[in-house]
Amino acid sequence: MNRITAAITAVGAYVPEEVLTNKQLEKMVETNDEWITSRTGIKERRILKDPDKGTSYLGIQAAQNLIEKSNLDPKEIDLVILASVTPDMPVAATAVHVATSIGAVNAFAYDLQAACSGFLYAMSTGSAYIEAGRYKKVLVIGADKMSSIIDYTDRTTCIIFGDGAGAVLMEPNDEGLGLQDEILRSDSIGRKSLNIAAGGSLLPPSEETVAKKLHYVRQDGKTVFKFAVSNMAGVSEQIMQRNHLTNEDVNWLIAHQANKRIVGATASRMGLEDEKVLMNIQRYGNTTSATLPLLLSDFEKQFKKGDNLIFASFGGGFTWGATYLKWAYNS
Ligand SMILES: CC(C)(COP(=O)(O)OP(=O)(O)OC[C@H]1O[C@@H](n2cnc3c(N)ncnc32)[C@H](O)[C@@H]1OP(=O)(O)O)[C@@H](O)C(=O)NCCC(=O)NCCS
Repeated sequence: MNRITAAITAVGAYVPEEVLTNKQLEKMVETNDEWITSRTGIKERRILKDPDKGTSYLGIQAAQNLIEKSNLDPKEIDLVILASVTPDMPVAATAVHVATSIGAVNAFAYDLQAACSGFLYAMSTGSAYIEAGRYKKVLVIGADKMSSIIDYTDRTTCIIFGDGAGAVLMEPNDEGLGLQDEILRSDSIGRKSLNIAAGGSLLPPSEETVAKKLHYVRQDGKTVFKFAVSNMAGVSEQIMQRNHLTNEDVNWLIAHQANKRIVGATASRMGLEDEKVLMNIQRYGNTTSATLPLLLSDFEKQFKKGDNLIFASFGGGFTWGATYLKWAYNS
């Protein structure tokens, strides 16, 4: 009997309509379109303006897009895992509200937080359940309302991030398609370089933490950049070697959209031509947990059954990883 693998069988996505361009940011902080474009590759990002809507709204829209596209009966979903750094609330998992709202009444649901690697970690968890034979339909969502944790007077962070969500359905496959291998890593050396200092158990929210703006994302961009390049490129090269994949064998690189120069460095270590390196950072910026499924959604029509995809991620914590997956369907 063939080994059961976990394949992606459907994709959905959502970005809010409101666009925040580099030109608009020029009026908010001391920056310019040329600097942002050349240093990051970003031209614009999407912002969920409605103050009454949180990350669950983004996740629900992405999941509903997947359900409509694939004619999935939400009652058949066994598990919903939502990767996010911006849950609706610290307690009462966002995934639970998403699952209930989409009609996944027979599912259990929980959140997973691993910053920009959250989606890869969530795919790993979802796949393990499927490979073990425990569940058959796992909905993995990456969703972030980054605008809720960004200080729009800080030019070192506000130019980078945007809001969005993407979702994939993972199901058992007996043709050898789906997730083949992964290398996932973490190191708390990054705890100081990229974080939200207050609001957790170490430094609970207070008037003082708010006055000092400690509830916003802060990063030492240069340090994060250095670690991102070496670690993301390192595991991407390693996963190719471990699976005897040449640059010819790899069809697509699905890399976390943090900075086009970080993605470029990873692609170059892998020896990949530009056509194989999928990019949408110019339109959405860094949407944290959502960048990888947003790429899948934007480029889904180009993927062919059997294509070799390498996912690569790097994020706060630090967390990083590379996943090798064989695409399971033609659109
Ligand atoms: C943030 C980042 C784009 C900055 O690019 P960089 O080339 O490293 O730029 P530096 O931080 O060295 O800053 C260079 C100069 O530009 C200035 N600068 C910073 N932000 C600016 C902005 N938005 N507009 C104009 N100038 C800016 C700096 O103050 C600095 O000026 P100085 O030389 O007078 O001190 C880059 O470091 C990066 O992408 N880091 C990784 C971030 C990331 O991926 N985070 C999420 C992880 S998943």
